[in-house]
Amino acid sequence: MSLEAEIRRLKDERDAVLLAHNYQIPEIQDIADDVGDSLYLSRQAMRTDRKVIVFAGVRFMAETAKILNPTKTVLLPDPTAGCSLADAITADQLRSWKAEHPGAVVVSYVNTSAEVKAESDYCCTSSNAVRVVSSIPADREILFLPDMFLGEYVRQQTGRAPHSMHLWPADCHVHGRLRPETIARARAEHPQAPLIAHPECGCMSKALPDVDRVLSTDGMIRFAKETKAPEVLVATETGILHRMRRLNPTTRFTPLDAGAICPYMKATDLTDVRDALQLNRFVIDVRPDVAERARRALERMVAS
Ligand code: 13P
Ligand code: SF4
Repeated sequence: MSLEAEIRRLKDERDAVLLAHNYQIPEIQDIADDVGDSLYLSRQAMRTDRKVIVFAGVRFMAETAKILNPTKTVLLPDPTAGCSLADAITADQLRSWKAEHPGAVVVSYVNTSAEVKAESDYCCTSSNAVRVVSSIPADREILFLPDMFLGEYVRQQTGRAPHSMHLWPADCHVHGRLRPETIARARAEHPQAPLIAHPECGCMSKALPDVDRVLSTDGMIRFAKETKAPEVLVATETGILHRMRRLNPTTRFTPLDAGAICPYMKATDLTDVRDALQLNRFVIDVRPDVAERARRALERMVAS
């Protein structure tokens, strides 16, 4: 029996749903029940009535699923699938930062640990960060973490003054390397192609006028489906190209940087998914007191 057939059989047997992020390897995207961005997958995890959620993504996504739907068994097929950005701030560091800014509202990107979310007032993803920050009264001081490029983009879009919206100084090691120089070079080589970029990119603050659209990964997928352009430049992790090319075979999707590959998102393969279902591993648990405190910030995220 093929691995795919085994996974289908085990999914039925265990009453499981397989959720996959847009950056996963093509074989996993092709067999998943749902593929999408962080916000879409959080909502799907929250509303599923299956007993088991297999999360082909990274740890913070599986933790988010567990917090939003605590009675389900949540499995992360490869326990090494972390996120360098989520590791860039600990709950202790956040508590110290909060102590320096008493009364500030804490907005955490979903790419954070459950403990950091428990210290936060709001969570957001790349697709609703501007909306979430806009919903906070303009006179409130904000601590935004951990991605400084996303934070800078949100600050520009909402018109918040730098002294009232503080950014944690960290970035994603995959997107941070997409610099304004990379954009300038790609623009010169592909002058007709529109450029779409994820807001985690390191080019966000300086090269914004050169970017046609700043989008979450699902926003990029929608753009890819609808575009009539012969070529589109794509500034994000290259795993997304599989879905774009399948949805729109007439447009050429060119990565801004073919080396933009997230090792954590590539950690999971079909064997891991099969083993996760067969051996019930690796079970994601979040301490109930932490989950309780993190849930409020996450519920605000999925509602926004
Ligand atoms: P999206 O929410 O846009 O899918 O982004 C998640 C992520 O980890 C980007 O690096
Ligand atoms: Fe984390 Fe960056 Fe990988 Fe996204 S691409 S999961 S932010 S390391």
